[in-house]
Amino acid sequence: MDYDRLKAEATARRAGQEPVCGARGAVVDVGAFERRVALRNLGRVDPGSIEDYIVTCDGYSGLHRALSIGREAVIAELEKAGLRGRGGAGYLTALKWRTCREAEADEKFVVCDAIDAHPWTRTAQTLLGGDPHSVLEGLLIGAYAVGAAQCFLCVNADYREQIALLRDALDRMRDCGLLGHGILSSEFSCDVEVCATAGSLVAGEETALIRILEGKQALPYLRFEYPAVQGLHEKPTLVNNLETLAVVSALLQGRAGAPMAGDTKIVTICGDVEREMTVEVPLGMSIGALLEAAEGASLGELGVKAVQFGGPTGAFFAAGSPASGGVGGSLDTPITFEHIEAAGSVMGSATLRVVGGGPDGVCAVQMARDAMAYLQEQSCGKCTSCREGTLQLVDMLDDILDSRATAEDLELMLELCEAMRTGSICGLGKNAGAPLLSALTLFGDDFDAHLHDGHCPAKE
Ligand SMILES: Cc1cc2nc3c(=O)[nH]c(=O)nc-3n(C[C@H](O)[C@H](O)[C@H](O)COP(=O)(O)O)c2cc1C
Ligand code: SF4
Repeated sequence: MDYDRLKAEATARRAGQEPVCGARGAVVDVGAFERRVALRNLGRVDPGSIEDYIVTCDGYSGLHRALSIGREAVIAELEKAGLRGRGGAGYLTALKWRTCREAEADEKFVVCDAIDAHPWTRTAQTLLGGDPHSVLEGLLIGAYAVGAAQCFLCVNADYREQIALLRDALDRMRDCGLLGHGILSSEFSCDVEVCATAGSLVAGEETALIRILEGKQALPYLRFEYPAVQGLHEKPTLVNNLETLAVVSALLQGRAGAPMAGDTKIVTICGDVEREMTVEVPLGMSIGALLEAAEGASLGELGVKAVQFGGPTGAFFAAGSPASGGVGGSLDTPITFEHIEAAGSVMGSATLRVVGGGPDGVCAVQMARDAMAYLQEQSCGKCTSCREGTLQLVDMLDDILDSRATAEDLELMLELCEAMRTGSICGLGKNAGAPLLSALTLFGDDFDAHLHDGHCPAKE
């Protein structure tokens, strides 16, 4: 079926459907501070109706366009937009796609990472629950561009409603000729499988995800080649986060606006806040400004001690201007890949977790200890540096809290963080030192109070 017929038939069928727009969409309000690209259809489209997506959202016009302009032109569009992957590391999407496209193989795969592996993040839950087709369209555009005929969409097994929506969406796509042989009357053939997987922290890491799809344990592995060259079953495999793919479909539909319009990020605001929310904001807005806009109050009124940005391996950010060069930063730090990296951290899951109670609310040593204990629990144990490093650091932070540590222990802690950074094979271990190092940069006084005066500043 060609695109014009697809649209005409969808229009006719939709006329007979009950309008349920937004009924199942997770977020309907758009804050004045938001700019939605990946979440553009949320609350506007019935996530259970492919017809609604096609008719009201120009759905699958991006795929149609991709098939008519050709593979290289698709990749060139992503390159022009400067699109960086939204899964955490900010890898250039066009570069990854071109690497996979140029890899020679008899078979290639595309994997969509929709695990929401980081605690607190709600990106996959929100996007798949509110607008699954924008992700599926991006997935098919990716498969076409790299020359893959099989895609896997990996979702946290706890997201039952989203999985049911996705399976139903795939059935409807098959009925409409958007999956299978000769999609939209072209020579492109492809299928998509939904895989319900574990939701542990390491399961979201791309090599662990590939292992899961191979029926193996969810353990990251040391790669000699990028998955785009050698991935699933040793074949070239494009792994992209679902938000990246939703931005791809917007770009190819010409719905992202300005040339750099892919420049937004979905952020989940959580922790000590009035109302948890998942929003999409323009890159460049500062952490503090976003928090104030979302909460409708000033930072002073909110009584923030710190914000951990980027998930469990993210650094802390706090009011004031910490010494440059250290890990961590001020709440004025703009949310961009470059600024977050300059603060010695990673965009990660872009969760903005508030630790409240004002400057003296919570002891920073306790904050760092809790963050390290979580990472220690989640470490898969494969790398000695990560397994032993996180374990020893929890013990040492306990020693500081119990006023049993010395200044030399601090030196040793810094060495352990460096050993984890250089000796770990995945991002969990590599970045595990960031919460502790940033707590030290921003709240050295809290550590000093325990080390030198034997008391906890939060208990004064
Ligand atoms: C511990 C760990 C957990 C991760 N969890 C996720 C996740 O839940 N979802 C995701 O898309 N990427 C996750 N990633 C990043 C992926 O490994 C990978 O970089 C990403 O999916 C690539 O997609 P992108 O190029 O579209 O950003 C994780 C990485 C690490 C180290
Ligand atoms: S860095 Fe940690 S979580 Fe990652 S593979 Fe090594 S032990 Fe496992």
